[in-house]
Order: sequence, then C-alpha cells, then structure tokens
Amino acid sequence: MLGRMEIGVLGATGPAGRGLAVRLAAAGHDVLAGSRDRSRAEGIVEELRGRWGERVATLRAVTNAEAADAADLVVVATNWEAALETTGAHAAALDHKVVIAMANGLQKVGREFRAVLPEEGSLAQAMQALAPNARVVAAFQHVPADALGDLDEPLESDVIVCADDDDARREVLALVASLPNLRALDGGSLANANGIEAFAAVLLSVNIRHRGKGTLRLLGVDSWAP
Ligand SMILES: NC(=O)c1ccc[n+]([C@@H]2O[C@H](COP(=O)([O-])OP(=O)(O)OC[C@H]3O[C@@H](n4cnc5c(N)ncnc54)[C@H](OP(=O)(O)O)[C@@H]3O)[C@@H](O)[C@H]2O)c1
Repeated sequence: MLGRMEIGVLGATGPAGRGLAVRLAAAGHDVLAGSRDRSRAEGIVEELRGRWGERVATLRAVTNAEAADAADLVVVATNWEAALETTGAHAAALDHKVVIAMANGLQKVGREFRAVLPEEGSLAQAMQALAPNARVVAAFQHVPADALGDLDEPLESDVIVCADDDDARREVLALVASLPNLRALDGGSLANANGIEAFAAVLLSVNIRHRGKGTLRLLGVDSWAP
C-alpha cells in the first residue's frame, strides 16, 4: 500500500510536469511544483488551483532546488534538452532518492519525429550517470501531457517502468498503478529506457501521420500488481 508521499517536480511549469503534478496531487500526495523561477511556479499553481480547486489542494509552488529536496520522490520534467543539466545541477539533493526520468529526446524532421539518444543509450541512463547515487527510474514517456493534465478525463495508457534498483522500480510501479486507469508494466533495467525513449518518436510520428492521439496499450499482459 502506497502512503502519502512528498514529491518534487522539477520543471512543473511545462505541460507534462504540470499534468503529472495535478495527477499526483489529486491522488493525495504533497506535490512541490518547481521552476527555475519561483514566481513562474506560483503563477502555474494559482492557475491549477483555479481550475481544479480542492482536488489539487496539496500542490505547492517552489523553486527547482526546493523540489529536488522533496522527501520521498523527485520527477525531472524539464524540457528534454535541459534534463541532463538540471539533474547534474541538483545531483547532491537527489542522492539515494527515487528520481523519475520522463524525458524523450526528439527531433522533428518533416512529418515525423526522430529520437535523439545520448551516448549512454538513453536520457534516463545519462541522468543516472550524472547523479550516480540517485535511483533513476524511467516512466511516463508515452503519456501525453494534455491527457495527464485533464483530471476529468480517464488516462487510458500503459506506463512501462525501467530501473536498475528493484525497490525504486517497484515504488514507481505502485505509484503508476495508484493513478486511475493507468496500467503499470515492469520493463526491467534502465538499459531498456533506450527502447522506451526511441519508441516515443515512433508513437508521435504515427500520431502526426494519422492525425491521432494514440497512447501505449499492450495486449495480453495484466497490469503489475504488488
Ligand atoms: N509533452 C508531452 O506530451 C510529454 C509526454 C511525456 C513525456 N514528456 C517529457 O516531459 C518533459 C517535459 O515536457 P514539456 O512538454 O512539459 O516540456 P516544456 O514545456 O518544453 O518544458 C518544461 C519546463 O522546462 C523548464 N526549462 C526550459 N528550459 C530550461 C533550461 N534551460 N533549464 C532548466 N529548465 C528549463 C521550463 O520551466 P521553468 O522555465 O519554469 O524553469 C519549462 O516550463 C520533456 O522531457 C518531455 O520529453 C513530455
């Protein structure tokens, strides 16, 4: 059973970080919504409170440094180009913490996206290298930000979770499974984050070419259960 956690979100002012922050707050967690600029975080939190009221009462505006100090779990939700620099800058605060990497390196080429992967194999692995004492977990790469941010809509997506630390992976699987309608799937070690991030480019390309909003749903497998 997952208890109430204090969760920091770095870069919570963007659509994906903001979306995850409201979902986590609505699930009852204390969420520290971070930005490089506190006033930007305050503006976003005010907007979210205006839209969702008491459902996001546990959301608080902070700086990224304060979000990285969150007691239980940290999400790096900056744009992908800044994910490595931001992880490195806050590495000391992330020591021993579970850190969710949700970044997809993407380049738009004509009517498709192509994956941009660092030499470590994935952004998640590169984040792990920059914060070696953190317990980096790849998750949420395929959940669209607009769906995350709309508490009135069911999410209807699978989330494949990869990490080298078994306890950290289980913790994030439990967190995902606790969010209404999301299915959590154990994708093994962080080495497999490479496929997760690369597939995001394929999924977005399909959506462009089909004018769709497809998410990930695997057939023939049950959701992870504790
Ligand atoms: N959008 C999606 O549907 C989606 C889905 C799954 C995963 N993701 C991943 O989630 C992450 C966030 O996506 P997004 O679309 O929300 O990104 P975004 O809007 O482009 O950026 C998010 C935040 O990053 C911060 N940021 C920008 N430049 C920065 C820098 N140089 N250093 C530090 N922080 C910087 C900004 O926050 P402040 O200016 O307030 O600091 C910004 O609001 C990305 O890595 C993306 O790959 C996105």
